Amino acid sequence: MDMTHYEGEDGLVLGDEGVDNVRHLHVGDNLEVMRGMGSETVDLVYLDPPFNSNQNYRIVFRGPEGLKPRAYLPAFEDVWVWDDASEELLGDLMQGRSDQAIGKAVSGMLMLIGRDRMMAYLVNMTLRLIEIHRLLKATGSVYLHCDPTASHYLKVLMDALFGRENFRNEIVWCYRGGGVPRRDFARKHDLILRFTKGDEYVFNPQYTEYSQASVDLVARRGGVSIDDRERDLERGAHMNDWWSDINSLQTWSPERTGYPTQKPVRLLERIILSSTNEGDLVLDPFCGCGTTMVAAERLRRSWVGIDVEPMALSVLRGRFDREDLGWELDVRGLPSVDPFDGDDWSMMAIADPERFERAVISLIEGCVPWRNRQDEGKGIEGVVTLPIGHVIVGVRGGNGIAIDDVRDFLRVVEGESDHGVIGGVLVCGFEPNVDLLEAAAQAGTVCVEGESYSRLSVVTPREVFRNDGENGWGLVNAGRLNRLGVS
Ligand SMILES: C[S@@+](CC[C@H](N)C(=O)[O-])C[C@H]1O[C@@H](n2cnc3c(N)ncnc32)[C@H](O)[C@@H]1O
Repeated sequence: MDMTHYEGEDGLVLGDEGVDNVRHLHVGDNLEVMRGMGSETVDLVYLDPPFNSNQNYRIVFRGPEGLKPRAYLPAFEDVWVWDDASEELLGDLMQGRSDQAIGKAVSGMLMLIGRDRMMAYLVNMTLRLIEIHRLLKATGSVYLHCDPTASHYLKVLMDALFGRENFRNEIVWCYRGGGVPRRDFARKHDLILRFTKGDEYVFNPQYTEYSQASVDLVARRGGVSIDDRERDLERGAHMNDWWSDINSLQTWSPERTGYPTQKPVRLLERIILSSTNEGDLVLDPFCGCGTTMVAAERLRRSWVGIDVEPMALSVLRGRFDREDLGWELDVRGLPSVDPFDGDDWSMMAIADPERFERAVISLIEGCVPWRNRQDEGKGIEGVVTLPIGHVIVGVRGGNGIAIDDVRDFLRVVEGESDHGVIGGVLVCGFEPNVDLLEAAAQAGTVCVEGESYSRLSVVTPREVFRNDGENGWGLVNAGRLNRLGVS
Protein backbone atom coordinates (compact mmCIF):
# COMPACT_ATOMS: atom_id res chain seq x y z
CA MET A 1 0.00 0.00 0.00
CA ASP A 2 1.33 3.43 -0.90
CA MET A 3 2.22 5.48 2.15
CA THR A 4 3.16 8.66 0.30
CA HIS A 5 2.50 11.77 2.27
CA TYR A 6 0.17 14.11 0.49
CA GLU A 7 1.17 17.15 2.46
CA GLY A 8 2.02 20.30 0.48
CA GLU A 9 5.13 22.32 1.17
CA ASP A 10 3.22 24.92 3.13
CA GLY A 11 1.68 22.18 5.27
CA LEU A 12 -1.89 23.24 4.46
CA VAL A 13 -2.96 19.63 4.11
CA LEU A 14 -1.54 17.34 6.72
CA GLY A 15 -1.42 13.61 6.32
CA ASP A 16 0.38 12.17 9.30
CA GLU A 17 -1.55 8.95 8.95
CA GLY A 18 -0.22 8.20 5.46
CA VAL A 19 -2.64 8.12 2.58
CA ASP A 20 -4.14 4.77 3.49
CA ASN A 21 -5.87 6.44 6.38
CA VAL A 22 -6.88 9.84 5.12
CA ARG A 23 -10.42 11.17 5.59
CA HIS A 24 -10.24 14.92 5.24
CA LEU A 25 -12.90 17.46 4.50
CA HIS A 26 -11.93 21.01 3.67
CA VAL A 27 -14.30 23.94 3.72
CA GLY A 28 -12.83 26.46 1.34
CA ASP A 29 -11.93 27.24 -2.24
CA ASN A 30 -10.58 24.10 -3.84
CA LEU A 31 -7.94 26.00 -5.81
CA GLU A 32 -6.29 27.16 -2.63
CA VAL A 33 -6.61 23.78 -0.90
CA MET A 34 -5.30 21.84 -3.91
CA ARG A 35 -2.36 24.21 -4.25
CA GLY A 36 -1.38 23.16 -0.73
CA MET A 37 -1.35 19.44 -1.59
CA GLY A 38 1.71 17.47 -2.67
CA SER A 39 2.25 16.51 -6.34
CA GLU A 40 1.50 12.99 -7.63
CA THR A 41 -0.27 11.83 -4.47
CA VAL A 42 -3.84 11.13 -5.62
CA ASP A 43 -5.10 8.00 -7.40
CA LEU A 44 -8.48 9.23 -8.56
CA VAL A 45 -10.13 12.62 -8.92
CA TYR A 46 -13.87 12.83 -9.48
CA LEU A 47 -15.15 16.33 -9.99
CA ASP A 48 -18.72 17.50 -10.43
CA PRO A 49 -18.35 21.27 -10.71
CA PRO A 50 -21.23 23.67 -11.29
CA PHE A 51 -22.12 23.37 -14.99
CA ASN A 52 -22.45 27.08 -15.83
CA SER A 53 -26.19 26.69 -15.55
CA ASN A 54 -26.82 30.30 -14.51
CA GLN A 55 -28.83 29.15 -11.50
CA ASN A 56 -28.68 29.56 -7.75
CA TYR A 57 -29.12 26.28 -5.92
CA ARG A 58 -30.87 25.88 -2.58
CA ILE A 59 -30.65 23.25 0.10
CA VAL A 60 -33.99 21.94 1.31
CA PHE A 61 -34.12 20.96 4.96
CA ARG A 62 -36.95 18.58 5.59
CA GLY A 63 -39.26 19.07 8.54
CA PRO A 64 -39.82 16.27 11.05
CA GLU A 65 -43.15 15.50 9.40
CA GLY A 66 -41.35 14.06 6.39
CA LEU A 67 -41.33 15.39 2.90
CA LYS A 68 -42.68 18.86 3.59
CA PRO A 69 -39.77 21.29 3.28
CA ARG A 70 -39.02 22.97 6.57
CA ALA A 71 -36.66 25.59 5.24
CA TYR A 72 -34.57 26.52 2.25
CA LEU A 73 -31.05 27.76 2.64
CA PRO A 74 -29.03 29.15 -0.23
CA ALA A 75 -26.34 26.73 -1.32
CA PHE A 76 -23.95 27.42 -4.14
CA GLU A 77 -24.24 29.80 -7.05
CA ASP A 78 -23.63 28.74 -10.62
CA VAL A 79 -23.71 32.23 -12.05
CA TRP A 80 -20.66 33.54 -13.89
CA VAL A 81 -19.73 36.97 -15.21
CA TRP A 82 -16.59 38.25 -16.88
CA ASP A 83 -15.17 40.85 -14.49
CA ASP A 84 -11.86 42.22 -13.20
CA ALA A 85 -11.31 39.06 -11.20
CA SER A 86 -11.66 36.93 -14.37
CA GLU A 87 -9.14 39.17 -16.12
CA GLU A 88 -6.72 38.69 -13.24
CA LEU A 89 -7.21 34.90 -13.25
CA LEU A 90 -6.64 34.85 -17.00
CA GLY A 91 -3.36 36.72 -16.42
CA ASP A 92 -2.33 34.10 -13.79
CA LEU A 93 -3.27 31.30 -16.12
CA MET A 94 -1.35 32.59 -19.12
CA GLN A 95 1.77 33.45 -17.11
CA GLY A 96 4.54 31.34 -18.66
CA ARG A 97 2.01 29.14 -20.48
CA SER A 98 1.39 30.96 -23.77
CA ASP A 99 3.57 28.44 -25.64
CA GLN A 100 2.10 25.41 -23.93
CA ALA A 101 -0.86 23.49 -25.33
CA ILE A 102 -3.13 24.70 -22.51
CA GLY A 103 -2.14 28.35 -23.10
CA LYS A 104 -2.88 27.97 -26.81
CA ALA A 105 -6.22 26.28 -26.11
CA VAL A 106 -7.28 29.08 -23.76
CA SER A 107 -6.14 31.83 -26.20
CA GLY A 108 -8.07 30.12 -29.01
CA MET A 109 -11.22 29.92 -26.88
CA LEU A 110 -10.84 33.54 -25.91
CA MET A 111 -10.84 34.48 -29.60
CA LEU A 112 -13.81 32.26 -30.31
CA ILE A 113 -15.97 32.95 -27.30
CA GLY A 114 -14.83 36.40 -26.18
CA ARG A 115 -14.80 37.68 -22.64
CA ASP A 116 -18.21 36.46 -21.49
CA ARG A 117 -19.65 34.30 -18.72
CA MET A 118 -18.75 31.02 -20.46
CA MET A 119 -15.14 32.18 -20.73
CA ALA A 120 -15.16 33.24 -17.05
CA TYR A 121 -16.30 29.72 -16.17
CA LEU A 122 -13.65 28.09 -18.38
CA VAL A 123 -10.80 30.19 -16.99
CA ASN A 124 -11.85 29.20 -13.46
CA MET A 125 -12.06 25.56 -14.44
CA THR A 126 -8.70 25.54 -16.25
CA LEU A 127 -6.83 26.73 -13.17
CA ARG A 128 -8.35 23.84 -11.22
CA LEU A 129 -7.70 21.26 -13.92
CA ILE A 130 -4.02 22.28 -13.92
CA GLU A 131 -3.85 21.49 -10.20
CA ILE A 132 -5.69 18.20 -10.65
CA HIS A 133 -3.18 17.13 -13.30
CA ARG A 134 -0.32 17.96 -10.93
CA LEU A 135 -1.88 16.05 -8.02
CA LEU A 136 -2.53 12.83 -9.91
CA LYS A 137 -0.07 9.96 -9.65
CA ALA A 138 1.42 8.62 -12.89
CA THR A 139 -1.13 5.78 -12.70
CA GLY A 140 -4.03 8.06 -11.72
CA SER A 141 -7.34 8.88 -13.44
CA VAL A 142 -9.74 11.78 -13.51
CA TYR A 143 -13.48 11.73 -14.15
CA LEU A 144 -14.87 15.16 -15.04
CA HIS A 145 -18.66 15.21 -14.68
CA CYS A 146 -20.27 17.86 -16.90
CA ASP A 147 -23.14 18.33 -19.30
CA PRO A 148 -23.46 19.47 -22.91
CA THR A 149 -23.47 23.15 -21.85
CA ALA A 150 -19.68 23.20 -21.67
CA SER A 151 -18.47 19.60 -22.23
CA HIS A 152 -17.07 20.38 -25.71
CA TYR A 153 -14.88 23.20 -24.36
CA LEU A 154 -13.83 21.20 -21.29
CA LYS A 155 -12.80 18.25 -23.47
CA VAL A 156 -10.44 20.51 -25.47
CA LEU A 157 -8.93 21.86 -22.24
CA MET A 158 -8.47 18.32 -20.93
CA ASP A 159 -6.88 17.21 -24.23
CA ALA A 160 -4.43 20.09 -23.93
CA LEU A 161 -3.54 19.27 -20.32
CA PHE A 162 -3.57 15.47 -20.26
CA GLY A 163 -2.74 14.76 -23.90
CA ARG A 164 -5.26 13.50 -26.46
CA GLU A 165 -3.73 10.03 -26.18
CA ASN A 166 -4.81 9.89 -22.54
CA PHE A 167 -8.47 10.44 -23.26
CA ARG A 168 -10.13 7.14 -22.31
CA ASN A 169 -13.90 7.52 -22.37
CA GLU A 170 -16.77 9.87 -22.75
CA ILE A 171 -19.28 8.23 -20.45
CA VAL A 172 -22.88 9.12 -21.17
CA TRP A 173 -24.93 8.91 -18.00
CA CYS A 174 -28.59 8.62 -19.03
CA TYR A 175 -31.42 9.26 -16.61
CA ARG A 176 -35.16 9.75 -16.59
CA GLY A 177 -37.65 12.05 -14.86
CA GLY A 178 -37.83 15.82 -14.48
CA GLY A 179 -39.14 18.44 -16.90
CA VAL A 180 -39.51 18.34 -20.68
CA PRO A 181 -38.93 21.37 -22.94
CA ARG A 182 -41.72 22.17 -25.38
CA ARG A 183 -39.54 22.93 -28.41
CA ASP A 184 -36.55 20.58 -27.95
CA PHE A 185 -35.81 16.95 -27.26
CA ALA A 186 -35.73 16.28 -23.53
CA ARG A 187 -32.17 16.59 -22.19
CA LYS A 188 -31.65 13.47 -20.15
CA HIS A 189 -27.94 12.79 -19.97
CA ASP A 190 -24.76 14.07 -18.41
CA LEU A 191 -21.25 13.47 -19.69
CA ILE A 192 -18.32 12.16 -17.69
CA LEU A 193 -14.94 12.69 -19.37
CA ARG A 194 -12.43 10.09 -18.28
CA PHE A 195 -8.71 10.80 -18.73
CA THR A 196 -5.65 9.12 -17.27
CA LYS A 197 -2.36 10.75 -16.46
CA GLY A 198 -0.43 8.26 -18.59
CA ASP A 199 -0.46 4.95 -20.35
CA GLU A 200 -0.07 2.72 -17.28
CA TYR A 201 -3.22 3.16 -15.25
CA VAL A 202 -5.55 1.32 -12.91
CA PHE A 203 -8.62 -0.08 -14.61
CA ASN A 204 -10.82 -2.78 -13.15
CA PRO A 205 -13.45 -3.70 -15.77
CA GLN A 206 -17.03 -3.57 -14.57
CA TYR A 207 -19.74 -5.94 -15.72
CA THR A 208 -23.43 -5.69 -16.27
CA GLU A 209 -26.15 -8.29 -16.68
CA TYR A 210 -26.76 -9.72 -20.16
CA SER A 211 -30.22 -9.18 -21.58
CA GLN A 212 -32.58 -12.15 -21.29
CA ALA A 213 -32.46 -12.57 -25.09
CA SER A 214 -28.62 -12.90 -24.98
CA VAL A 215 -28.78 -15.31 -22.05
CA ASP A 216 -31.26 -17.53 -23.94
CA LEU A 217 -29.21 -17.40 -27.14
CA VAL A 218 -25.92 -18.28 -25.42
CA ALA A 219 -27.60 -21.11 -23.49
CA ARG A 220 -29.00 -22.51 -26.76
CA ARG A 221 -25.58 -22.30 -28.45
CA GLY A 222 -23.72 -24.07 -25.64
CA GLY A 223 -22.01 -21.07 -24.06
CA VAL A 224 -21.06 -19.08 -27.14
CA SER A 225 -22.79 -16.14 -28.74
CA ILE A 226 -23.65 -15.48 -32.37
CA ASP A 227 -20.00 -14.50 -33.06
CA ASP A 228 -18.87 -17.90 -31.67
CA ARG A 229 -17.10 -16.18 -28.78
CA GLU A 230 -17.56 -17.47 -25.25
CA ARG A 231 -19.81 -15.56 -22.90
CA ASP A 232 -19.48 -15.77 -19.13
CA LEU A 233 -23.11 -15.43 -18.17
CA GLU A 234 -22.41 -15.31 -14.47
CA ARG A 235 -19.84 -12.54 -14.70
CA GLY A 236 -21.98 -10.49 -17.10
CA ALA A 237 -21.13 -8.26 -20.06
CA HIS A 238 -18.21 -5.82 -20.15
CA MET A 239 -19.72 -2.45 -19.39
CA ASN A 240 -20.29 0.09 -22.18
CA ASP A 241 -19.57 3.79 -22.04
CA TRP A 242 -23.27 4.63 -21.74
CA TRP A 243 -24.89 3.96 -18.41
CA SER A 244 -28.64 3.85 -18.21
CA ASP A 245 -29.02 1.52 -15.24
CA ILE A 246 -28.54 4.17 -12.54
CA ASN A 247 -31.25 6.80 -12.44
CA SER A 248 -30.79 10.32 -11.10
CA LEU A 249 -32.16 10.83 -7.58
CA GLN A 250 -35.88 11.53 -7.59
CA THR A 251 -37.62 13.62 -4.95
CA TRP A 252 -38.89 10.55 -3.15
CA SER A 253 -35.56 8.72 -3.13
CA PRO A 254 -34.52 7.80 0.44
CA GLU A 255 -30.92 8.65 -0.52
CA ARG A 256 -31.82 12.31 -1.07
CA THR A 257 -30.34 14.75 1.43
CA GLY A 258 -31.97 17.93 0.12
CA TYR A 259 -28.64 19.12 -1.26
CA PRO A 260 -29.07 20.27 -4.87
CA THR A 261 -27.42 18.32 -7.70
CA GLN A 262 -26.68 15.35 -5.42
CA LYS A 263 -25.46 12.34 -7.43
CA PRO A 264 -26.36 8.69 -6.68
CA VAL A 265 -23.85 6.74 -4.58
CA ARG A 266 -24.00 3.85 -7.08
CA LEU A 267 -22.59 6.09 -9.80
CA LEU A 268 -19.61 6.97 -7.64
CA GLU A 269 -19.15 3.38 -6.51
CA ARG A 270 -18.84 2.30 -10.14
CA ILE A 271 -16.25 5.00 -10.88
CA ILE A 272 -14.21 4.27 -7.75
CA LEU A 273 -14.27 0.50 -8.32
CA SER A 274 -13.17 0.97 -11.94
CA SER A 275 -10.18 3.20 -11.31
CA THR A 276 -8.87 2.48 -7.80
CA ASN A 277 -7.90 -0.36 -5.51
CA GLU A 278 -8.52 -0.65 -1.78
CA GLY A 279 -6.58 1.96 0.23
CA ASP A 280 -6.07 4.30 -2.77
CA LEU A 281 -6.67 8.02 -2.32
CA VAL A 282 -9.76 9.59 -3.92
CA LEU A 283 -10.14 13.37 -4.20
CA ASP A 284 -13.40 15.23 -4.87
CA PRO A 285 -12.68 18.98 -5.03
CA PHE A 286 -16.39 19.91 -5.49
CA CYS A 287 -17.73 17.37 -3.02
CA GLY A 288 -21.16 18.93 -2.27
CA CYS A 289 -22.98 16.71 0.18
CA GLY A 290 -20.21 14.13 -0.08
CA THR A 291 -21.54 11.36 -2.33
CA THR A 292 -17.96 10.50 -3.34
CA MET A 293 -16.94 10.35 0.30
CA VAL A 294 -19.78 7.98 1.19
CA ALA A 295 -18.87 5.67 -1.73
CA ALA A 296 -15.12 5.81 -0.95
CA GLU A 297 -15.75 5.06 2.72
CA ARG A 298 -17.96 2.07 1.91
CA LEU A 299 -15.29 0.74 -0.48
CA ARG A 300 -12.43 1.31 2.00
CA ARG A 301 -10.61 3.99 0.04
CA SER A 302 -8.92 7.02 1.58
CA TRP A 303 -10.44 10.30 0.58
CA VAL A 304 -10.18 14.09 0.58
CA GLY A 305 -13.29 16.22 -0.02
CA ILE A 306 -13.38 19.97 -0.58
CA ASP A 307 -16.35 22.32 -0.79
CA VAL A 308 -16.58 26.05 -0.47
CA GLU A 309 -20.10 25.94 0.95
CA PRO A 310 -20.22 25.44 4.74
CA MET A 311 -23.79 24.13 4.49
CA ALA A 312 -22.60 21.29 2.27
CA LEU A 313 -20.52 19.99 5.10
CA SER A 314 -23.29 20.11 7.64
CA VAL A 315 -25.45 18.05 5.27
CA LEU A 316 -22.56 15.62 4.85
CA ARG A 317 -22.08 15.38 8.58
CA GLY A 318 -25.71 14.34 9.03
CA ARG A 319 -25.36 11.86 6.18
CA PHE A 320 -22.40 10.10 7.73
CA ASP A 321 -24.15 9.96 11.10
CA ARG A 322 -27.23 8.42 9.51
CA GLU A 323 -25.17 5.89 7.54
CA ASP A 324 -23.27 5.05 10.71
CA LEU A 325 -20.02 4.94 8.78
CA GLY A 326 -18.13 4.97 12.02
CA TRP A 327 -15.46 7.60 11.73
CA GLU A 328 -14.77 11.07 13.08
CA LEU A 329 -15.03 13.95 10.62
CA ASP A 330 -11.76 15.77 10.24
CA VAL A 331 -12.95 19.13 9.01
CA ARG A 332 -10.50 21.86 8.10
CA GLY A 333 -11.18 25.42 7.06
CA LEU A 334 -14.32 27.35 7.90
CA PRO A 335 -16.81 26.00 10.42
CA SER A 336 -19.64 23.96 8.98
CA VAL A 337 -23.13 25.03 9.96
CA ASP A 338 -25.61 22.87 11.76
CA PRO A 339 -28.90 24.80 11.72
CA PHE A 340 -29.67 23.68 15.27
CA ASP A 341 -26.26 24.66 16.59
CA GLY A 342 -25.96 28.23 17.91
CA ASP A 343 -22.14 28.16 17.86
CA ASP A 344 -22.06 27.27 14.18
CA TRP A 345 -24.32 30.21 13.36
CA SER A 346 -22.19 32.56 15.49
CA MET A 347 -19.06 31.51 13.64
CA MET A 348 -20.76 32.00 10.29
CA ALA A 349 -21.99 35.48 11.35
CA ILE A 350 -18.38 36.47 11.95
CA ALA A 351 -16.68 34.60 9.11
CA ASP A 352 -19.14 35.47 6.35
CA PRO A 353 -21.74 38.11 7.32
CA GLU A 354 -23.21 38.27 3.82
CA ARG A 355 -23.86 34.55 3.62
CA PHE A 356 -25.25 34.73 7.15
CA GLU A 357 -27.70 37.40 6.02
CA ARG A 358 -28.85 35.42 2.98
CA ALA A 359 -29.13 32.23 4.98
CA VAL A 360 -31.31 33.86 7.63
CA ILE A 361 -33.66 35.49 5.16
CA SER A 362 -34.21 32.24 3.32
CA LEU A 363 -34.75 30.47 6.64
CA ILE A 364 -37.83 32.50 7.54
CA GLU A 365 -40.77 31.08 5.66
CA GLY A 366 -42.62 33.71 3.66
CA CYS A 367 -39.85 36.29 4.11
CA VAL A 368 -39.13 38.29 0.96
CA PRO A 369 -35.73 39.96 0.60
CA TRP A 370 -36.13 43.72 0.86
CA ARG A 371 -34.61 45.42 -2.14
CA ASN A 372 -35.81 49.01 -2.03
CA ARG A 373 -33.05 51.46 -2.89
CA GLN A 374 -34.74 54.30 -1.01
CA ASP A 375 -34.55 52.24 2.15
CA GLU A 376 -30.83 51.56 1.92
CA GLY A 377 -29.19 52.29 5.24
CA LYS A 378 -32.29 51.47 7.26
CA GLY A 379 -31.02 47.96 7.91
CA ILE A 380 -34.09 46.15 6.56
CA GLU A 381 -33.17 42.84 4.94
CA GLY A 382 -36.55 41.21 4.54
CA VAL A 383 -40.27 41.57 5.07
CA VAL A 384 -42.97 39.11 6.06
CA THR A 385 -46.46 40.15 5.08
CA LEU A 386 -49.28 39.01 7.36
CA PRO A 387 -52.94 39.77 6.75
CA ILE A 388 -52.82 42.44 9.44
CA GLY A 389 -49.65 44.18 8.28
CA HIS A 390 -45.93 43.80 7.62
CA VAL A 391 -43.17 42.60 9.92
CA ILE A 392 -39.74 43.83 8.86
CA VAL A 393 -36.66 41.68 9.38
CA GLY A 394 -33.17 42.99 10.05
CA VAL A 395 -30.15 40.68 10.06
CA ARG A 396 -26.90 41.63 11.74
CA GLY A 397 -23.77 39.58 11.08
CA GLY A 398 -20.50 40.23 12.88
CA ASN A 399 -19.70 39.49 16.48
CA GLY A 400 -22.84 40.76 18.17
CA ILE A 401 -25.11 43.79 18.35
CA ALA A 402 -25.31 46.81 20.67
CA ILE A 403 -28.27 48.46 22.38
CA ASP A 404 -28.07 51.26 19.84
CA ASP A 405 -28.65 48.74 17.03
CA VAL A 406 -31.87 47.67 18.74
CA ARG A 407 -32.99 51.27 19.31
CA ASP A 408 -32.18 52.25 15.71
CA PHE A 409 -34.18 49.31 14.40
CA LEU A 410 -37.09 50.21 16.68
CA ARG A 411 -37.07 53.73 15.20
CA VAL A 412 -37.24 52.20 11.71
CA VAL A 413 -40.20 50.01 12.76
CA GLU A 414 -41.99 53.05 14.19
CA GLY A 415 -41.12 55.20 11.18
CA GLU A 416 -42.60 52.62 8.83
CA SER A 417 -45.89 52.25 10.69
CA ASP A 418 -47.58 54.56 8.16
CA HIS A 419 -46.71 51.95 5.55
CA GLY A 420 -48.44 49.16 7.40
CA VAL A 421 -45.47 47.89 9.42
CA ILE A 422 -46.69 46.44 12.72
CA GLY A 423 -43.49 44.96 14.10
CA GLY A 424 -39.93 43.90 13.55
CA VAL A 425 -37.51 41.05 14.10
CA LEU A 426 -33.80 41.57 14.52
CA VAL A 427 -31.74 38.42 13.92
CA CYS A 428 -28.16 38.22 15.14
CA GLY A 429 -25.52 35.52 15.39
CA PHE A 430 -25.22 35.63 19.18
CA GLU A 431 -27.67 35.01 22.01
CA PRO A 432 -29.00 38.48 23.02
CA ASN A 433 -28.20 39.54 26.59
CA VAL A 434 -30.72 40.93 29.11
CA ASP A 435 -29.97 44.57 28.20
CA LEU A 436 -30.76 43.94 24.54
CA LEU A 437 -33.94 42.08 25.40
CA GLU A 438 -35.02 44.92 27.71
CA ALA A 439 -34.34 47.49 24.98
CA ALA A 440 -36.49 45.44 22.61
CA ALA A 441 -39.24 45.06 25.23
CA GLN A 442 -39.58 48.84 25.33
CA ALA A 443 -41.22 48.61 21.94
CA GLY A 444 -44.27 47.14 23.70
CA THR A 445 -46.63 44.59 22.27
CA VAL A 446 -49.06 44.17 19.41
CA CYS A 447 -52.44 42.62 20.08
CA VAL A 448 -53.76 40.32 17.41
CA GLU A 449 -56.97 38.35 17.80
CA GLY A 450 -56.77 38.59 21.57
CA GLU A 451 -53.12 37.44 21.74
CA SER A 452 -50.30 39.73 22.65
CA TYR A 453 -46.98 39.59 20.77
CA SER A 454 -43.69 41.46 21.21
CA ARG A 455 -43.53 44.28 18.74
CA LEU A 456 -39.81 43.89 18.38
CA SER A 457 -37.99 40.57 18.80
CA VAL A 458 -34.26 39.99 19.01
CA VAL A 459 -33.53 36.36 18.13
CA THR A 460 -30.88 33.99 16.83
CA PRO A 461 -31.30 31.82 13.70
CA ARG A 462 -31.36 28.74 15.90
CA GLU A 463 -34.62 29.92 17.49
CA VAL A 464 -36.03 30.62 14.06
CA PHE A 465 -35.08 27.16 12.92
CA ARG A 466 -36.35 25.48 16.08
CA ASN A 467 -39.64 27.28 15.66
CA ASP A 468 -39.18 28.47 19.20
CA GLY A 469 -41.75 31.09 20.11
CA GLU A 470 -40.56 31.65 23.64
CA ASN A 471 -38.12 34.47 23.09
CA GLY A 472 -40.48 37.01 21.55
CA TRP A 473 -40.26 35.41 18.12
CA GLY A 474 -44.04 35.28 18.39
CA LEU A 475 -45.33 37.69 15.78
CA VAL A 476 -43.72 36.21 12.68
CA ASN A 477 -43.89 32.77 14.15
CA ALA A 478 -47.63 33.14 14.64
CA GLY A 479 -47.88 34.03 10.97
CA ARG A 480 -45.75 31.06 10.07
CA LEU A 481 -47.93 28.74 12.06
CA ASN A 482 -50.98 30.01 10.21
CA ARG A 483 -52.50 31.39 13.40
CA LEU A 484 -52.98 34.66 11.56
CA GLY A 485 -54.46 33.03 8.53
CA VAL A 486 -51.34 33.07 6.39
CA SER A 487 -51.53 30.35 3.82
C1 LIG B 1 -22.71 20.14 -8.56
S1 LIG B 1 -22.31 20.35 -6.87
C2 LIG B 1 -21.57 18.82 -6.40
C3 LIG B 1 -22.57 17.80 -5.94
C4 LIG B 1 -21.92 16.52 -5.44
N1 LIG B 1 -21.36 15.74 -6.52
C5 LIG B 1 -22.92 15.68 -4.65
O1 LIG B 1 -23.24 14.54 -5.06
O2 LIG B 1 -23.41 16.19 -3.65
C6 LIG B 1 -20.98 21.45 -6.99
C7 LIG B 1 -20.38 21.85 -5.65
O3 LIG B 1 -19.20 22.61 -5.89
C8 LIG B 1 -19.06 23.55 -4.84
N2 LIG B 1 -18.12 24.57 -5.30
C9 LIG B 1 -18.31 25.53 -6.23
N3 LIG B 1 -17.20 26.26 -6.39
C10 LIG B 1 -16.26 25.75 -5.54
C11 LIG B 1 -14.91 26.07 -5.24
N4 LIG B 1 -14.29 27.09 -5.86
N5 LIG B 1 -14.26 25.35 -4.30
C12 LIG B 1 -14.90 24.32 -3.67
N6 LIG B 1 -16.18 23.97 -3.93
C13 LIG B 1 -16.85 24.66 -4.85
C14 LIG B 1 -20.48 24.03 -4.59
O4 LIG B 1 -20.62 24.56 -3.28
C15 LIG B 1 -21.26 22.72 -4.76
O5 LIG B 1 -21.46 22.08 -3.53
